[in-house]
Amino acid sequence: MSEPAPHRLPGDPPLTAEIARILRVDHAGEFGATRIYEGQLDVLGRSRAAGAIREMAEAEKRHFARLETLLRERRVRPTLLHPLWSVAGYALGAATALLGERAAMACTVAVEEVIDEHYQWQAERLGDDDAALRAELLSFRDDEIAHRDVAIAEGAEKAPVYDLISVAVKTGSRIAIWLSTRF
Ligand SMILES: [Fe+2]
Ligand SMILES: [Fe+2]
Repeated sequence: MSEPAPHRLPGDPPLTAEIARILRVDHAGEFGATRIYEGQLDVLGRSRAAGAIREMAEAEKRHFARLETLLRERRVRPTLLHPLWSVAGYALGAATALLGERAAMACTVAVEEVIDEHYQWQAERLGDDDAALRAELLSFRDDEIAHRDVAIAEGAEKAPVYDLISVAVKTGSRIAIWLSTRF
């Protein structure tokens, strides 16, 4: 789903509406990420990978807290699907962790690759219309790329059924993004 991300054009929705959608989906995504890592930690909290997972979980909590503030400041409502992402995120984290540390890391790689593209796309859409927000999203993106690299270093690509996990998690993440942008 790497559609081109043209900068805003005449006839596009007003900037405030577009920013509301951006913040809503990002708030949902960062919340989902915190839940994925919570699910992973409940299964792998005493494993060799626990330290790495805990660090990533802390970053997602920071991202989510920042988006909570942005939503409040800009009076944007959260997605109606928030309760669903709590359950789905946790289930995804716990289920992949039950397959083993490498499968959990494969899940992380897949999620972070989708989020990397997603933040990049949003940053291009925003252009200079809200340069401060764009800079924040790009700094989150840097963190997500670092998480992907950690997960690869932790052996993600050696997970059994890596390709299957990758395709399933990426598809699920894209559906979640699509839904959270609209609802
Ligand atoms: Fe994040
Ligand atoms: Fe992340």
